[in-house]
Amino acid sequence: MSNEKWWKSAAVYQIYPSSFCDSNSDGIGDLPGILSKLDYLKELGIDVVWLSPIYKSPQADMGYDIADYRDIDPRYGTLKDYDALVEGLHSRGMKLMMDLVVNHSSDEHEWFQESKSSKTNPKRDWYIWRPPRYDADGTRHPPNNWKAQFQGSAWDYDETTDEYYLHLFLAKQPDLNWENPDVRQAVWELMRFWVHRGCDGFRMDVINIISKVDGLPDAPISAPDEEFQDARALFANGPRVHIYLQEMNREVLSKHDLITVGETPYSIDPTALAKYVLPANKELDMIFQFELVGLDSAPNASFTPRPWTLPEFMQVVNRWQTLERDAGYWNAVYIENHDQGRSVSRWADDSDAWRALSAKMLAVLEVSLSGTQYVFQGQEIGIRNFPRSWGIEEYKDVASQNWYKEVLERRRAEQGRDDVDMSDILDGLQKKARDHGRIPMQWNASPHGGFTTGTPWMRVNDDFPTWNAEAQIADPDSVLSFWKSALRLRKDNKVLIYGDFTLLDPTNKQVFAYRRVYGEKRAVILLNFTSETVKFTVASVAAEASTRGHVFGNYPLVDGVVGAEIELRAYEGRVYLS
Ligand code: GLC
Ligand code: CA
Repeated sequence: MSNEKWWKSAAVYQIYPSSFCDSNSDGIGDLPGILSKLDYLKELGIDVVWLSPIYKSPQADMGYDIADYRDIDPRYGTLKDYDALVEGLHSRGMKLMMDLVVNHSSDEHEWFQESKSSKTNPKRDWYIWRPPRYDADGTRHPPNNWKAQFQGSAWDYDETTDEYYLHLFLAKQPDLNWENPDVRQAVWELMRFWVHRGCDGFRMDVINIISKVDGLPDAPISAPDEEFQDARALFANGPRVHIYLQEMNREVLSKHDLITVGETPYSIDPTALAKYVLPANKELDMIFQFELVGLDSAPNASFTPRPWTLPEFMQVVNRWQTLERDAGYWNAVYIENHDQGRSVSRWADDSDAWRALSAKMLAVLEVSLSGTQYVFQGQEIGIRNFPRSWGIEEYKDVASQNWYKEVLERRRAEQGRDDVDMSDILDGLQKKARDHGRIPMQWNASPHGGFTTGTPWMRVNDDFPTWNAEAQIADPDSVLSFWKSALRLRKDNKVLIYGDFTLLDPTNKQVFAYRRVYGEKRAVILLNFTSETVKFTVASVAAEASTRGHVFGNYPLVDGVVGAEIELRAYEGRVYLS
């Protein structure tokens, strides 16, 4: 059918370069390490590799702070290594997607160095500078009350010119001024640079916050006790974001056959977010929406877990699966990335008893949803969150560290002593920290899981001796072997890629059931999200399922026609196809 595209049927594998494979024993993953694993990815059924940032960076935020957009960070290798990786991918029929981080640069980028040098520097206006505000007694304050992600004020004072610059993330990540056409030109040029060097697409970091509200007004006071306030509504999906992305499409994207996905946090409004994707708008192929992965977080507190229910989960999936289908909305299907805890630990059951089965059930979920598939490194072997017994020192992410320090200092001040109880914060981090997505890949049973022969930059999860890729390659029953066949099933059945989605039993607290229809082809998917055997008794669905073949699942297949009632075993996932 006419809406079929190579990037819609693609399976994309996200690599977090620092933690994938270390080739030179310095404890940090690198490009030659990635090159050495391409056959593994090909074998898994991967079409596109997306690399989290590999550009030159002081690594204040693990490479999401770029000091040179046209060079590779020495910890990862050289431009030659990049070329070899492109060649290695292309010769295997795979493609390469890069992370485009252009809402902000590093403060060490020469653009920012120039910008801060004087008010008259030609690059002054490439960033967002404002004079201080002074209160009645002459105390200096930032230009507005916006709070940054991962730290206090979104403004940092610079003495050289007696002004503040805006940074929506760390002070080492100054926001570029997209209002300036020269900035946009520079971005288009660096995109062309990588496309000409063999890159096949981009994942665009926080791309929905590049246009800030006019006048940069104070945010409404939502936390009266705090100095800085949540301003996300003032920069998410801002006034000119679509104009800029349409310009990007005209100038760069439309001239090549690329795959593009925009990361769009701080908004879960489907109507607002669909605009980035609808083909008539000529912007991006798809976005990463955060409604599903945010479901288990307390409101505005990403490191505080919140209990969730299956009907809520199904509602969110349903909303995005059925969004503006006729107008061509297309989903990016993901449940893990480098900013998230592991899916088996959040949405299933990572205890030894159920880990493998429930990780496979989540694989059935992913491959049977409409959208481009994203598999995060380690998801294919069922890596789980590292344990609660690990202390705060094992958390390397600046966001985890800053959050811990912030609460620690507040409690010490409130309680007037040093030894305050932080166990609830550690409980939350064990569930929700970004660190769990950044743990080194578990390749084999050798020290540090075969990730490095040196000292790893981050501790490897303790279960690597038994839980690793090598052991799973050898085991036809492993999570890895299951993912291979699940991705194959999807490739072989377009109904799973393109079919329309209907939620079948919206209030069921145990079973997620849905139908997919594509032309003459139909699929029914049943997923038991509990560790109990449950009877699925929606008669019409059972009858429908029973007339179709049970072709795929994480238990041995059940032969023949089943009755009006289907029994699903613990964490069983089934696909019926006709
Ligand atoms: C995105 C990235 C995250 C990073 C942030 C700032 O959300 O995925 O890792 O910290 O942007 O660049
Ligand atoms: Ca290395």
